[in-house]
Amino acid sequence: MGKEIRSVVNILDLSVDEINHLMELADAIEADPGKFQECCAHRKLAVLFYEPSTRTRLSFEAAMLELGGQVLGFAGADSSSAAKGESVADTIRVVSNYADIIVMRHPKEGAPVVAVQNASVPFINAGDGGHFHPTQTLADLLTIRRTRGRLEGLTLGLCGDLKFGRTVHSLIDAMLRYPGNRYVLISPEELRLPFYELEKLEKSGVLYQEVNSLEEAIPDLDILYMTRVQKERFFNEEDYLRLKDSYILTPEKLLKSREDLAILHPLPRVNEISVQVDKDPRAKYFYQTLCGKQMRMALILFLLGLDKG
Ligand code: CP
Repeated sequence: MGKEIRSVVNILDLSVDEINHLMELADAIEADPGKFQECCAHRKLAVLFYEPSTRTRLSFEAAMLELGGQVLGFAGADSSSAAKGESVADTIRVVSNYADIIVMRHPKEGAPVVAVQNASVPFINAGDGGHFHPTQTLADLLTIRRTRGRLEGLTLGLCGDLKFGRTVHSLIDAMLRYPGNRYVLISPEELRLPFYELEKLEKSGVLYQEVNSLEEAIPDLDILYMTRVQKERFFNEEDYLRLKDSYILTPEKLLKSREDLAILHPLPRVNEISVQVDKDPRAKYFYQTLCGKQMRMALILFLLGLDKG
């Protein structure tokens, strides 16, 4: 029998032990990047992005380059044969002949499942519609662990577009595996967490509450995870315009927050965090992008079986 090909579509495809291993590997990369600079020599990463991205695509590319590997791919469906009607299944079968590992972002929920069924190399979901974004979650987990020292016993405030924000869904799925966390879901009524995610919180028996007011929630929080209202997932412009500025984090709103609060945001930011907050030591969202690159380096090593030194 051939060696099992490991892929990551959902954060739950990785066990807690594996996630902890990836975080330790990311710490080792941070401590001594030179030790890893040839690990992926002669290996290729295919980066297939059917949807816009800055961080995820460039951090995957940087990750592979810093591991000594090479990168190929496309940054938009229009510049690939998807524009001529090629299916994801066919594209993945073809690209499996060109690369050792594939990363794909696609606007359709479920497209990564089709990709895994057709890939003959490891596959990583870099975001599918409003569904999952597991490597953003890896970035978030490392940021939380490095800034708060633990992943248990924290009060997490998740604020903004909890309906379409795939990063929120993946983060909740991941944090539910660490005990003692409490969840404060801050959103307008129309952008509440979907039923299937609320059901997970309910079944897990964790403490959670749904609120509208960011100001009232802030004093209790260890982590504040701000999100952008996802314009691209709205069916009409009018609703987007009405909801887009529901929450704007300002220095004034932080006056009653804990000193050791960590403010995260998957980015891109539109208007939901004032730039005046950027210089506050509690703002960790740019540091989060560095954590993302290091976790993607760790994940590439792990999926290629190159993580054992
Ligand atoms: N956080 C994130 O996924 O950013 P990009 O859309 O720029 O990749």
